[in-house]
Amino acid sequence: MRFHGRLALRQPGWVLAAGCAVAVALMSTATLRPVHAQDKANAKAHAPGAAQAGGGSVTAQSFYATPFEKKPDAATLTHLGRALFSDAALSASGRLSCASCHDPAHAYGPPNGRATQVGGGDLHQPGLRAVPSLRYAQDTPAFNAHFTENEGDDSIDQGPVGGWTWDGRAASAHEQAAIPLLSAFEMGNRDRAAVVARLRQSPNAELMKKAFGERVMTDERLAWNGLLWALEVFQQSPSDFYPYSSRFDGYLRGKEKLSANELRGLQIFNDPARGNCAECHVSAIKRGAFPQFTDRGLVALAVPRNLQIAANRDRRFFDLGLCGPLRTDLAGQGEFCGLFKTPTLRNVATRQVFFHNGRFHTLTEAVRFYADRDAFPKRYYGAHGQTNDLPARYSANVNREAPFEAQRPGKPSLNDAEINDLVAFLHTLTDKDAHTVRP
Ligand code: HEC
Ligand code: HEC
Repeated sequence: MRFHGRLALRQPGWVLAAGCAVAVALMSTATLRPVHAQDKANAKAHAPGAAQAGGGSVTAQSFYATPFEKKPDAATLTHLGRALFSDAALSASGRLSCASCHDPAHAYGPPNGRATQVGGGDLHQPGLRAVPSLRYAQDTPAFNAHFTENEGDDSIDQGPVGGWTWDGRAASAHEQAAIPLLSAFEMGNRDRAAVVARLRQSPNAELMKKAFGERVMTDERLAWNGLLWALEVFQQSPSDFYPYSSRFDGYLRGKEKLSANELRGLQIFNDPARGNCAECHVSAIKRGAFPQFTDRGLVALAVPRNLQIAANRDRRFFDLGLCGPLRTDLAGQGEFCGLFKTPTLRNVATRQVFFHNGRFHTLTEAVRFYADRDAFPKRYYGAHGQTNDLPARYSANVNREAPFEAQRPGKPSLNDAEINDLVAFLHTLTDKDAHTVRP
């Protein structure tokens, strides 16, 4: 693996496992990712991706300075954004809304077991990636290709971090929202004029006028920015997007007990020599903030190729995450190939598809991949045993730290009982209002 600094982020997991949440909050010296840090070079690097997203070419500054007649308050924007989020009239098919793929009953993740969803005008255009949950993304930092600690040794390059989507190519939630609205395989609009024309026909046009003033629906830029802003603010709504209502949150508050195997799972999750999961899926309270179960880092795990994805039937096609083809600004920079963003594991037990390409369909299979990827490579990659969704020239990018480190041919690093414990623990991360599926 090229970026070694992530080791520095390891969590004091044993403290948590001992049930001493308060001690962790006081003792942890680990640094939070800098939410506001986005260097200038990086802002420039984003421009092409933004242009590709269509309409996202407005800079963050001009976006928030949009000259609306009325400046709505947060509650009004949240209410409007909630309505627009499930407004199927905004799609070319008239049948697809944000909520069709990001189902509120599944923690704003996919409602079904399809590796990728279908969209477009005829609802037959297949997508490229699995739908991520939108919960607990509220503090996602802008993308930074070379994150360095600002405490301790700041010379260590910890690799890329942040940004929205699996490859971090959108700089904010409003820039992100432009992608599905204009994607040929999602909501299928030709351009932003088409979106605004559809919005004018929707009952929500009235809500738009109430929030931003009468003029909003006659000015394309105002309507477009108002739509994206309302969607962005809605996604910051605590009760919808970060309720912290799981059993594990109850445990952190000292109000809930975990069973013996859930506690064993938590210990394995945190132990750097065993699961080592918390290295990337942060599980400890930091400076009083409850953990999001991701550090937003982008890492290559070499998930096996998924032939259920239509684009993968072409043997020459590879979704290489950071280095393209969906993302364009880092194309040709080999050290970024195969890297995808670490997703939150909160509500992971509500999912039926796992990893960026939805290759696995049960949580147990997904966890087992960590236990034996390098022990049984043929099981995942076919007879030659070489990563089959990442060309061999990029194999140095693949993460080989624990839990992969201890694996030898035929020897997994976690046994079945440990895998079951991990899965039991992951089930404690489901929010009260979300539906868990079978293990
Ligand atoms: C057809 C299914 C589909 C629809 C409709 C859809 N999305 Fe998505 N969404 C996805 C997929 C797939 C991804 C991952 C995309 C990628 O990595 O390139 C995603 C990613 C996202 C992300 C990034 C999450 C993260 O963790 O970085 C946000 C935010 C988001 N969608 C919001 C929305 C909003 C708002 C709408 C409606 C305007 C919407 N989506 C409509 C499928 C969909
Ligand atoms: C080095 C960082 C790292 C470590 C360590 C790590 N993960 Fe992950 N995890 C990721 C990344 C990156 C992804 C997404 C990779 C992809 O889709 O290509 C991911 C994805 C997942 C997913 C799929 C979630 C979803 O929404 O699709 C699960 C489940 C998961 N990890 C569980 C674990 C468990 C359990 C452990 C410990 C045994 C662990 N991870 C250790 C970085 C890490």
